[in-house]
Amino acid sequence: MGEGVLSRTSQDALLADAGLARRGRSLEAGGVALAEIAAEVATPTYVYNTDVIRERYRRLDAALAPVPHRICYAVKANSNLAVLRLLAELGSGADIVSGGELARALAAGFAPEQIVFSGVGKTPEELREAVRVGVGYINVESREELELLGCIASDAGREVTVGIRVNPAVTAETHPYISTGGRGIKFGIPTDQVVAAAEYVARHPRLKLGALAMHLGSQLVDTRPFEEGLGRLLELLDRLRLAGLPTPPAIDVGGGLGVRYAEERAMDVDRLAAAVLPMLAPTGLTVVFEPGRFLVGPAGILLTRVLYRKHSGGKEFVIVDAGMNDLVRPSYYQAYHEIVEVEAASRPPQRVDVVGPVCETGDFLALDRMLPGLTAGELLAILGAGAYGFVMASNYNTRPRPAEVIIEDGRYWVARARERVSDLLDRERLEEPAR
Ligand code: LLP
Repeated sequence: MGEGVLSRTSQDALLADAGLARRGRSLEAGGVALAEIAAEVATPTYVYNTDVIRERYRRLDAALAPVPHRICYAVKANSNLAVLRLLAELGSGADIVSGGELARALAAGFAPEQIVFSGVGKTPEELREAVRVGVGYINVESREELELLGCIASDAGREVTVGIRVNPAVTAETHPYISTGGRGIKFGIPTDQVVAAAEYVARHPRLKLGALAMHLGSQLVDTRPFEEGLGRLLELLDRLRLAGLPTPPAIDVGGGLGVRYAEERAMDVDRLAAAVLPMLAPTGLTVVFEPGRFLVGPAGILLTRVLYRKHSGGKEFVIVDAGMNDLVRPSYYQAYHEIVEVEAASRPPQRVDVVGPVCETGDFLALDRMLPGLTAGELLAILGAGAYGFVMASNYNTRPRPAEVIIEDGRYWVARARERVSDLLDRERLEEPAR
């Protein structure tokens, strides 16, 4: 995190990725002044620019056009209903990991058959509900889950399409907390158990194999892990054929396409397509991608206001009204998020820590960052907050979660009202209720 300052070109690239531009001194997103949103909706507030989501969806869809493909947006990245509805309208499917996300995906207008249900610990209730609504396929992650699903399918008297999520033993270069395809990690079924799982599916009267799947990790910028992992899945397909088992119609290569937060490069989807499509084309299989961050990450910012300045222990602090409960990525993954002034005032930069109000020393949004001499009351935009921002927010310190605003056609609207303290107290009691 001791990162200082980004080059002008990197900062310009980040602003362009986010669909942000300056009119005079003021920062605008999709033609809307961010200061206007802050004045009306207050801070902290998440703001999502739908033009950016649309453009990114189309770019990925175009890159995959040479082969039969489906994009199933990973709902966990940003599950705001308006964002989900936009993606459904663009033609995306949904990748979900809980009963809650299933309810959101359906409420936002995804057709059940466009939904893929992933996740290492689905409960029996969640599986039953997915079978009842008829999701596209359910990616199982263990033999036990597969057998439970078999029982549920028999009880329901329904045909259920299964994906086998494989652990391809490919370690991708990223933060260790979000590397999910390596050997000895909790995700997926190890390659040496996949044929037996497929046999179980083939023998079961109510199950059918819909996909071999993997998910290697998140924020990947290199195409190599995708090539390696896909290679393993294609080898497994051959093994299924050799064993005389039915092969699935789809290969699900998961999500993980990385975006630019600072100087690093982003995943180039044309390079990714050039690397993996030639491997897939001869198979004629449909390829499923489950991107989350790639579609929504750069589209969102977190608007926050400076509360105080202070000088302490030889350091400069900027205390803002957003904390680790609102955006946990800097604290949790030491992630870099670019911070820019909403009203530029051309002041000389200073090295500062940008910290939140939460009672933890780990509550920071940036450390040792070169920022213009900020003063109390000023607005800041924290970039790259469209993915794993609001969805990871908590109520720690009894802080209501931020509002979420959508920018569309040069206008904005509040897609999720700011939580109230009363919302937080609502479900609590001071006494045991009478029985
Ligand atoms: N599919 C599966 C099965 C996943 O587990 C994930 C993410 C995705 C797709 C979407 O990955 P994406 O395209 O967004 O990289 N909270 C972390 C990221 C956790 C990702 C978990 N799984 C962060 O803030 O960086």
